[in-house]
Amino acid sequence: MIFEGFSPLLRSSLVAGLTRDALLSMDPETAHGATITALRLGLAPQQQDPDPPELRTSLCGLDLSNPVGMAAGFDKNGEVPRPLARMGFGMVEIGTVTPLPQAGNPRPRLFRIPEAEGVINRMGFNNDGHDEVFRRLNGVRVPAALGINIGANKGSADFVADYAKGVARFARIADYLTVNISSPNTPGLRDLQHEDALKRLLSAVLTVRGKSPVRVPVFLKLAPDLDQAAMDAIAAVIAGTDLDGLIVSNTTISRDAVAGLANAGEKGGLSGKPLFDLATRRLAQMRQRTALPIIGVGGIHSPETALAKFEAGANAVQLYSALVFGGLDLLDRIKRGLAKAVRDAGKSSIADLVGTRTAEWASGK
Ligand SMILES: Cc1cc2nc3c(=O)[nH]c(=O)nc-3n(C[C@H](O)[C@H](O)[C@H](O)COP(=O)(O)O)c2cc1C
Repeated sequence: MIFEGFSPLLRSSLVAGLTRDALLSMDPETAHGATITALRLGLAPQQQDPDPPELRTSLCGLDLSNPVGMAAGFDKNGEVPRPLARMGFGMVEIGTVTPLPQAGNPRPRLFRIPEAEGVINRMGFNNDGHDEVFRRLNGVRVPAALGINIGANKGSADFVADYAKGVARFARIADYLTVNISSPNTPGLRDLQHEDALKRLLSAVLTVRGKSPVRVPVFLKLAPDLDQAAMDAIAAVIAGTDLDGLIVSNTTISRDAVAGLANAGEKGGLSGKPLFDLATRRLAQMRQRTALPIIGVGGIHSPETALAKFEAGANAVQLYSALVFGGLDLLDRIKRGLAKAVRDAGKSSIADLVGTRTAEWASGK
């Protein structure tokens, strides 16, 4: 590999430099492609020290050396799960993958809102499809929990069947699966969050999971744009199933937190810092409605905001958008900050901080 002779420190500063300065001046999708290429070439900074013992945790039977994951959408095609794991993510979620390959929406479809450290995307599930992604991942050993996020093709006549195909295809090679019904960029997809549709979907998905040789944990990924009644209905539906957990949340269609800023008028889902409050509130509100494990996502951009997700009720967290603005050392800072918060609270495990401020976060609409 061309960068083989470089010291780990030099390699990480090359990537860190690439990420912060050069990448921020590029068109966002070109910058993303350059980052994936850099990771594929072995340019990723590798974690130097083992994870602090305070961060070791268990999620649906998965043993995580730390509870901080890469959220779906960064590595849609499963090209770089190993480099991401070696960087120090405790989980890497690839996808969303749909049965057939699809091109997604026309470009431009990814926008930064620099003043707010927000991102708007309307990618539309651009991905290589089940066969190609399965071929790429089959047999690859990833030193972290590998999540595979599954979805439906835009033109599909039967969304539910697409998810069932995803479970059948990937149950054997994933450490967990995510049923993503919360992307705002596939028309009609989020209707699967409605009571009757959700019942049908979960029944189909969990029946297929029941037939697979291993019991792979299945998570359901929700939108933050749900009101109290919708959350009540979802909680009631999942209570009658053997779903394993929730991911809260996907991007929002609300623009309240970025009103008036450049690019705020672009269609799509908003993520990053301006999503933090809404997503964390929804996480706490779902925590009040279910005892299932929840992965908290949305707007994490510092050790403090990562800690807040656990306090609101998350058992693990994921992030994506902040890496666009904060650089790759953010992961290390978050992990060190979380371990320190555990020690400062006089506890021994991050699990001891879960839900300590749920009521506070859940108040408000
Ligand atoms: C460019 C982009 C693409 C995304 N694609 C997906 C996707 O394919 N599937 C999915 O479940 N979430 C996707 N997401 C949502 C993220 O996984 C995450 O839920 C959301 O961005 C909130 O986290 P963040 O604020 O840390 O980015 C995408 C997000 C971004 C910014």
